[in-house]
Parts: sequence; structure tokens; C-alpha cells
Amino acid sequence: LSSRTPVTNGITNHLPTPVQRPRRLRISPALRDLVRETRLTPAQLIAPIFVRHGRDLRVAIRSMPGQYQMSPDQAAREARELAERGIRAVLLFGIPAHKDACGSENADPDGIVPQAIRAIKDAVPGMVVISDMCFCEYTDHGHCGVLNSPDRSDFQPQLGEGYLLNDPTLALLAEASVVHARAGADIIAPSGMIDGMVATIRAALDSAGLSHTSIMSYAAKYASGFYGPFRDAAESPPQFGDRSQYQMDPANAREALREVDLDVAEGADILMVKPALAYLDIIRQVRDRHTLPLAAYQVSGEYSMVKAAALQGWLDEQRIALETLTAIRRAGADMIITYWAKEAAEWLG
Ligand code: PBG
Repeated sequence: LSSRTPVTNGITNHLPTPVQRPRRLRISPALRDLVRETRLTPAQLIAPIFVRHGRDLRVAIRSMPGQYQMSPDQAAREARELAERGIRAVLLFGIPAHKDACGSENADPDGIVPQAIRAIKDAVPGMVVISDMCFCEYTDHGHCGVLNSPDRSDFQPQLGEGYLLNDPTLALLAEASVVHARAGADIIAPSGMIDGMVATIRAALDSAGLSHTSIMSYAAKYASGFYGPFRDAAESPPQFGDRSQYQMDPANAREALREVDLDVAEGADILMVKPALAYLDIIRQVRDRHTLPLAAYQVSGEYSMVKAAALQGWLDEQRIALETLTAIRRAGADMIITYWAKEAAEWLG
């Protein structure tokens, strides 16, 4: 370098020194820790658990490496392991023994989710148990409620066969929510994007003496390709069509705020935006607009695409998982539902 001919004629000797040097605060790990704006702790993470009938069962989910469908005893064991790592909440999805047109098992007090709730509460009484309240896992057609059909007395020809009927679905949601809450669920999390679901479930819980049971509303849930791997996990793909007649268009942001406003007015205790990474702008806008606690759901596709790339050796899974979780927190989420909950709790120490 010293042998290089100066091309600046000594002008670099007279450059002003920077007034601000942000790099000063990046010199050591301790300094970086001191000025970190966003914290990520295991207590902010919620672990999804897929439960199915049986004993001592752990069935690997092909599209989601590291995730399993578990029988209630195994779900209880999992809850213990999660609690040891500082995770305070789980979100349950049920795979029923039988599916039918109106998803009857969802309202069965001995159905798979009530069984799992009791097993988990027995094993870890302090664990917050959240029940995902939807019908897509329970119906033979895989849609999130009951469908318009000529065999129904309320058939609506102008809507076409197979249209998801809103108000008849509300009645079923009310019934199943009371069953799950009676089994011990602390929080009911309606995820079907059915109009009026929060108000209906609130009224049903209150009239059943369950005014202490909270509602975490999937307030802004988009019709997303990122749910792909979940269809394997919950065995819940729609048998025809898709969910765009009830879930939101990814192109819309104002509509998400309207959905959220409605759920606030209907009595939601916790709001949710789903998916997370492609919707950080929505998380931020909801955070700025409302004071209720806000959850974000880092969904199956967000998990599986990183797992797949990591298995190829193309990226560092731990680093990407913690980076995305931190970004979701930075965008404004108080809590994050994530398939990395257990691993992230370990990484966070
Ligand atoms: C049920 C439900 C789904 C997810 C959560 N609850 C599936 C869907 O809406 O199609 C997706 C979760 C994930 O992809 O991790 N309605």
C-alpha cells in the first residue's frame, strides 16, 4: 500500500472525522447486548402440538422435519419438556378419529383435543393451553365449517354448492368452544375467519359460566400458500377449491385493519396476524392501532422452507430461525406461535 502512488494529492489528510460513529456501540458482545432494542425469550413463544388418538404414539410429519403428531400421553410428555425449557403455552390441533360433514368430533367432550387438554393440564398444571378452534381438521370436505348443500333446509342456490355457510358455522363454533373450555383450555383461538366468530364464542362461553376463558382471535388470517406443509400435519386439505372465500387476500392491508377492529369490538382478548414473515407490515400496523396483546403465527411453510434449505446445507437454521423470530418481535408481536419454540428455547439458553 505504501508503495502506491497517491492519487489524491494528500487530500485524505484533511477529511473531517465522522461526528457520529454508530460502530462504537458494536465493538463488543456486551455493548451490543446493552443497546439491543428487541428481546426474544422462551416465555414469548407458543408451541403448536398436533394430537391424535392412541397411546405412546409419535408420528413424524413428512413435510415438517422435527414435528410430530402425538397421542395425548406423548403431548403431556412434550408439555413437560417445553415447560423445562421455559415455554409457557401450547396451541393444540386435533386429528379426529372420524370426519363428517359438520365436524362432529370437535364438540365431543371425549374428542381428541379435550383428551389432550386434560393430559397436558394433569402433567403441567401451569401450562397455558390454547385450543385452535376450527372445523377443517374435523370435516370430511376439509373446509372450516358447514357447506351450502341441497340436502340442507337452508340451502341457498345463489351461493352455489360448497359455499361455506357463515351463521350455521357460528353455532357449531359456539358449541365446540364451550366443550374445549370445559375440558380446561385457557384460551380459545378461532382460526376460521368466520364473520362474527369472536362475539358468538364470547357469548357462548359467558352463558356457560366460562367468562374467565380468553379468546385469541386469528383476526387477520390470509389465504396463504405458506400453510402448505400444515395440510400434512393436520390432515386437513380442502377436498375441493381453496379458502379464499373466507381467508383474506394477501393483497389487502386496510381490510386486515377492519377485520382486527371488528374482533376488538367483539371482545377478543388477544389479536393475531398470520402468517408472520410476509406480513410484518400488518403486524406493525395492528401494533400501532390497538393496545391489546398481539400474537403472530410463524406458519408451517415459514418453518419448512428453512428446514429444507438447512438440510441441503444452504443456510444456518439456528441463525435464520432466531433472526426471523426477532424480526417478528421487532415488527410488534408480543408473542409468536412457532414450530421452533422448543429448539429456540434451547438456543436462547
Ligand atoms: C385451521 C388452521 C390452518 C393453520 C392453522 N389453523 C390451516 C389453514 O387455514 O389452511 C395453518 C398453520 C400453519 O400452516 O402452520 N384453519
